[in-house]
Amino acid sequence: MIRGCIFDLDGVIVDTAKYHYLAWKRMASLLGVAFTEEDNEHLKGVSRMQSLQYILNKGGIKCSDEDKQKYAKAKNEWYVDYISTIDETEILPGAQELLIDLKKNNVGIALGSASKNAKPLLKNIHLIDFFDFISDGNSTEKSKPDPDVFLIAAKGLNLQPAYCIVFEDSVKGIEAALKGGFRSMGIGDKNVLNGAEHTMPGLSGLSWEVLEKLY
Ligand code: BG6
Ligand code: MG
Repeated sequence: MIRGCIFDLDGVIVDTAKYHYLAWKRMASLLGVAFTEEDNEHLKGVSRMQSLQYILNKGGIKCSDEDKQKYAKAKNEWYVDYISTIDETEILPGAQELLIDLKKNNVGIALGSASKNAKPLLKNIHLIDFFDFISDGNSTEKSKPDPDVFLIAAKGLNLQPAYCIVFEDSVKGIEAALKGGFRSMGIGDKNVLNGAEHTMPGLSGLSWEVLEKLY
């Protein structure tokens, strides 16, 4: 039944969610807005501009589009700086092993990430060649929980959503997967990702054999 796997990037394949958090915290502090890890949960899977809007709303800040572009650009420059030295050591446990196993079993592999930095990041950690198709923040303007980024990924794999499992660490991403008619695997806390069909703390221990049994 399952023919493809669509992976979110930040927090699923690579340990970059913490760098997004640091960069947003820095921006929030510059804007004088309190920013907690709980706030950060709302930003996971959300596009750069919508993340900024969340912080502006929280602080009750109104500003011009020009200023918004300036803030988003600054956050991205900090983020890119944080990840500039990233290498294979930041690949999350089990990710590479699962990709190898899926390839061996001829399962389609796609990326479904909101990030515009996805491709250079995948290159830096030397995982880009595993992906048959990349759908990222440059593929659509619609941010999760809209399913568009996953629908583009499924189309790229030439598969219907019902034949693909979406792997996601964010509430908004799981919501997007469900809306799009995908099967879903939450990566993280079962209580947080309670909409997901199955949840695992990470990709460790997952193989094609395990997934075939689960789905
Ligand atoms: C998602 C992250 O993968 O990408 C978000 O979970 C991030 O935290 C979003 O804001 C957009 O990323 P970027 O790299 O385009 O700013
Ligand atoms: Mg994520």
